[in-house]
Amino acid sequence: MNHIKKLLLGIDGSENSYKAASFAADLAEKLGASVTLIYVASEKSTVGFIAKPTYTSGENVLAGGRLDPPKRYLEERNVPFDTVVEMGDPADVILRVADQGYDAIVVGARGLSGLREMVMGSVSQKIVQNSKIPVLVVPKP
Ligand SMILES: Nc1ncnc2c1ncn2[C@@H]1O[C@H](COP(=O)(O)OP(=O)(O)OP(=O)(O)O)[C@@H](O)[C@H]1O
Ligand SMILES: [Mg+2]
Repeated sequence: MNHIKKLLLGIDGSENSYKAASFAADLAEKLGASVTLIYVASEKSTVGFIAKPTYTSGENVLAGGRLDPPKRYLEERNVPFDTVVEMGDPADVILRVADQGYDAIVVGARGLSGLREMVMGSVSQKIVQNSKIPVLVVPKP
């Protein structure tokens, strides 16, 4: 497993995505890998924004604190990490970013609308169906 050096972790602010974050932090620590936290603000929920802000404070505004708990897990374990905040279709953006040299994607099985009785949400399902790299799907807490 030594070739797994870069993990891409999808965070939507849900408990399930934080469970995925905790798993990714443990895994990255053991592998000596780095983690990129990605939050995609969907176009529906951000009417009025026309372009991705390029400055960090703008990313913080868009992400709205969602990335704070997973950042803490990574800091506690001394795992190197960075953050990406983009707008668009979450699965499409995650798949496009994953092409930039990542070794695996980590997502929760479900996200914020976890009420429906399906194993996976539409974002995790679309990622599993279309990813060229392995996807680790972490079940609901
Ligand atoms: N906007 C997003 N940005 C980053 N990662 C996301 C985003 N949305 C979902 N994810 C990732 O995908 C996982 C599954 O979420 P998904 O949205 O597929 O399920 P859901 O919200 O329960 O269902 P749906 O959105 O289809 O109604 C999350 O735990 C998270 O890891
Ligand atoms: Mg969702």
